[in-house]
Amino acid sequence: MKVLVVGSGGREHALAWKLAQSPRVSKIFCAPGNAGTAQLGINVDIQVEDLDNLLALARNEKIDMTVVGPEVPLTLGIVDVFRAAGLKVFGPTAKAAELEGSKAFAKDLMRKYNIPTAEYGVFSEAKAAQDYIRQIGAPCVVKADGLAAGKGVIVAMDLATALNAVSEIMEGQFGEAGRRVVVEEFLEGQEVSLLAFVDGKTALPMAPVQDHKRIFDGDKGPNTGGMGTYSPPPVFTEELYQQVMESIVNPTVRAMAAEGREFTGVLFTGLILTQAGPKVLEFNARFGDPETQVVVLRLESDLAEVLEAAIAQRLDKIELKWSEKAAVCVVVAAGGYPGKYPKGDPITLPVSMPGWGTVFHAGTDLKDGRVVTGGGRVLGVTARGNGLAEAREKAYQLIEQVEFDGMFFRKDIGVKGLI
Ligand code: AMP
Ligand code: GLY
Repeated sequence: MKVLVVGSGGREHALAWKLAQSPRVSKIFCAPGNAGTAQLGINVDIQVEDLDNLLALARNEKIDMTVVGPEVPLTLGIVDVFRAAGLKVFGPTAKAAELEGSKAFAKDLMRKYNIPTAEYGVFSEAKAAQDYIRQIGAPCVVKADGLAAGKGVIVAMDLATALNAVSEIMEGQFGEAGRRVVVEEFLEGQEVSLLAFVDGKTALPMAPVQDHKRIFDGDKGPNTGGMGTYSPPPVFTEELYQQVMESIVNPTVRAMAAEGREFTGVLFTGLILTQAGPKVLEFNARFGDPETQVVVLRLESDLAEVLEAAIAQRLDKIELKWSEKAAVCVVVAAGGYPGKYPKGDPITLPVSMPGWGTVFHAGTDLKDGRVVTGGGRVLGVTARGNGLAEAREKAYQLIEQVEFDGMFFRKDIGVKGLI
């Protein structure tokens, strides 16, 4: 079958890489893709928001299955548009993607269905939000309601920062996404990402992952899209996993169906493991980046088969097989990220990839046949090993074969899991 992957990040290269290993997949298209996906199939220069041209591409090329990476086309309704045209597509409808597209919607759903999460208030007036902040005090967390590419969350350790965050979010910087704010109780604990394939009824969890959101070692500096991941995180015990499936993931899938927003695609639960038990920080309605990079390295099942089963609402018939090995992904970023960074710098890559790992491209382009930098997060160097320590060692060993001007990466990815 012919598969179209929508997106251009490390997540999409990882999905295309895994799909390319499936005997069911004969050809891969990626829109718009990066220099990594170009090696696996055909990149088509269509942006992810351009639903009309994506639909035309899928029709012209007789695509059998489309997999959508980023949140923006999902909230714009790409799944609704493709389904209406009779095309097979893996992802949530626009109504279901609200779970990520509106934090207020997600919080209200969790309150209504008793799904554990931080206490909160939703406000469309700055003054009311600030009154609430004075009432609950600092630390607290202020979030833009809508999509803000990971930049709409301010963890405020003092009152002034929290009050100021409300004005910053509501006064234009985030546009429509900042029309409302969510103010939350501050929670403490380790974070775990649990992704699940969902077909409307059945949730099939993936291997749990821990992300490293801050830019610098020791979780210092500003938040980023994610600087590295590892799987499995030892803090997430079998018992916690069962508890999260029973008290969070399955109830959320049922709640969405009950609300007439049947959820299909990937339900990504961002968890925080507090003293009072696991709670939801956020839901995403898609694969994580760079969570997907370690997930595909540990997934032994045929991804194309799983996605087809999800689309056909047959996930109850599928059992996922996971490698016992651990996996680590270290993001190599361009100097300046998450602020301004240069583009177009040539990248040296390993001459050949080892059996135990690979370099996923994220922000890369092809210029005169050479791979060059084209984004903030440039590469995801990913390795598998017997245990976390070995997987870490191998990932950092593979990075030694990577070079470009100004490159940097965290040295402590996975250290938290070495207990
Ligand atoms: P979100 O996009 O909502 O997951 O928030 C991004 C990051 O902000 C999370 O990964 C956490 O590190 C932090 N965060 C979000 N909500 C809270 C909270 N209620 N308490 C503490 N930290 C939070
Ligand atoms: N790595 C976090 C995310 O994909 O949102």
